[in-house]
Amino acid sequence: MRRGMIIFLVFNLVLLGFILNSVFTLITLLFEDCTADAIRPYDIPAPSSDLIDQRPKLIPKIIHQTWRNETIPEKWSEAQQSCIKIHTDYEYKLWTDQRSREFIATEYPWFLETFDNYPYPIMRADAIRYFVLAHFGGIYVDMDDGCNRRLDPLLSYSAWVRKTKPTGISNDAMGSTPQHPFFLQVIESLQSYNRNWRVPYITVMYSTGPLFLSVIWKEYIRWGTSEEGRVRILMPDEYIKKPWSFFTYHKGSSWHNEDAQAIFWMGQHWILLTVSGVVLAALLYIVGFTVVRKSHISFPPQFFVNLFRRGGYTSLKKKDDEEKTVEV
Ligand SMILES: *[C@@H]1O[C@H](CO)[C@@H](O)[C@H](O)[C@H]1NC(C)=O
Repeated sequence: MRRGMIIFLVFNLVLLGFILNSVFTLITLLFEDCTADAIRPYDIPAPSSDLIDQRPKLIPKIIHQTWRNETIPEKWSEAQQSCIKIHTDYEYKLWTDQRSREFIATEYPWFLETFDNYPYPIMRADAIRYFVLAHFGGIYVDMDDGCNRRLDPLLSYSAWVRKTKPTGISNDAMGSTPQHPFFLQVIESLQSYNRNWRVPYITVMYSTGPLFLSVIWKEYIRWGTSEEGRVRILMPDEYIKKPWSFFTYHKGSSWHNEDAQAIFWMGQHWILLTVSGVVLAALLYIVGFTVVRKSHISFPPQFFVNLFRRGGYTSLKKKDDEEKTVEV
């Protein structure tokens, strides 16, 4: 029985290692505060500052937005116009459904099948923003984000994204130089992350949305990057709400269905959920172990021991061992 027990424990350890490895990035994401790459408030001249920003501009002056077609709903046209009006020297590109598809078909035909088969339109809207940033460079801004000031200071970084709550980064405002290694990695990863997770909200978040982007980002920065490859993080105060923030938020997101509510709740209570999950698993394990010990069921379960005794395992053992296993 001793040997069976050891095999059983090793098997458990390997399984645990395997699970931990596959969720490692997600776990590290929970402890990520983004400070290492944060854009500091003192790096950004105040909106009314006379101090002319002398740093070279790396990101091209292009603003990208996405919408179904050319007709922008009234609730967002104010936000849209606020960006266009103060950036008359920027090129403005509106990626409608039709234009997005044509662009993918022409420039990235290998992705067209995935693009066409995304089950939710928002997934195409997510994907296209990564492709146009990787291709043209520029700044992508969500339709419900208006501009509170000129975005020029943000052109001095080779790429940036913004920090979001409860953890990770979001994809609603991002900037990049063309062919930036981070956004190249993002577009290369889209196909392998395209999975159906049954819950629509998770499918969207993890296949193309902010969770997908956060995981790719964590993997991208894991071993460090060159200065040109660096992805800077716009912190909440510089993003929104303060007088010196770059953007204003116009409520209008379509993300308020029940899935989203449940996930938001889980996001806000993840410590509680994690602790209860671990406690519950430990309790189940202890109870199960005790029950098995007190009953006449052998532990580890006989079928489990047999599983390892059959197949190639026995043939590698010494003769006497082999004889023992034959009895089983
Ligand atoms: C754009 O889409 C909306 C709703 O889907 C529709 O009402 C409108 O007519 C469309 N506009 C154009 C120019 O096709």
